[in-house]
Amino acid sequence: MERFDRSGTGSVKWARAGEGRIALGLADMDLPGPPEIGAALAERAGHSAYGYTACDPAGRELVAAWYRERHGVTVDPDWVLLLPFSPRTALRLLFTAAGPRRPVAFPAPEWGGFAQICDSAGLPYRAVPLARDATGYRLPVAALARGGADLIALSSPHNPSGRVWTAEEIRYLAQAVADSGGLLVSDEVHGDLVHPDHGLAQPVAAVVAEGASRHVVTLNSVGKTFNTSGVPSCFALVPDPGLRERLTTLMAGYGLWEGGLLEQVVQQAALRHGGPWLDALLGELVSARDLVLAALPDGAVLSRPEASYLLWLDSAALGLPADRAREVLLTERGVELSDGADFGPAGRGFLRLNYTLPRPLLRTALTRLTGSSCGE
Ligand SMILES: Cc1ncc(COP(=O)(O)O)c(C=O)c1O
Repeated sequence: MERFDRSGTGSVKWARAGEGRIALGLADMDLPGPPEIGAALAERAGHSAYGYTACDPAGRELVAAWYRERHGVTVDPDWVLLLPFSPRTALRLLFTAAGPRRPVAFPAPEWGGFAQICDSAGLPYRAVPLARDATGYRLPVAALARGGADLIALSSPHNPSGRVWTAEEIRYLAQAVADSGGLLVSDEVHGDLVHPDHGLAQPVAAVVAEGASRHVVTLNSVGKTFNTSGVPSCFALVPDPGLRERLTTLMAGYGLWEGGLLEQVVQQAALRHGGPWLDALLGELVSARDLVLAALPDGAVLSRPEASYLLWLDSAALGLPADRAREVLLTERGVELSDGADFGPAGRGFLRLNYTLPRPLLRTALTRLTGSSCGE
């Protein structure tokens, strides 16, 4: 794609970057989503009945069909909660419903939302450094489970690196929380964006946990997959009926219930019609990833991405000062990246780059970032 004009749409990503700069920060893609979503929204908006709207149970079957067709796994439609609010809100509710007695454990670096949610919920947490081998990051499974952690949270695939965890890693953690009567929350909002050349399937935690599945929740969202986060929604696979009931009761106290008027229109249109669009997107992500990797100096990327559109960069390898890398790029080179410190203390000295931009703009951004021409 040559150009995607978001001016006048209130894009947070571009507002964060500021005038004249190229936005490579927020996890939001610069491309038009599947046309069927816009058509479904327009059709529903064309009917002026905007009153309280019931949850359409067909949505649960659609989620199950999505997992069957895209992931080749069986999801019981009864597990599915259709949530008309953002993944972050769902995580906050899940953490509260889990009621951990010991500190919440998650890897470091990690998507900053887990720490923020723990802080706002008054829950202590333990950030456990990721391990690394020749192929990239590994989950420090034994350290995460140490001391009988009763709530472990993960982004899977990993945000910020795009690493896809293995089924063995997930199963180990699921068994560990099952042994201590706890919960593994697997945040899989990037899980439909595994690169086709990765060769391994995304481990859907609620499914791969098998015997321990009642101690696992998978959270997913069409918001990340189809770039519809402006109409916040998500869905959770919750095999434990008791936890589903506790969540539903907790939600009711906040005036939240399953379904949502526009949220389920978007969710259903995406799941019903979005497959071919997603296949084309995945091809684009792989070629954009390779363009960016080829432009960067050796050692800049700590863990080669296997999913999504994110790169985790060592600022020192880019010749940038560790403590001011984002600021230097923003003020001197006109590109905005996410500051690694937003991913916890383990992220200091790092940057996260989102490479979903129209190709000409991506080339310009890489030239600005690296100081050498990328075929503009
Ligand atoms: C792994 C992960 N979880 C949750 C979220 C939160 O999404 P939202 O801000 O739409 O709630 C994000 C957003 O980037 C994310 O990357």
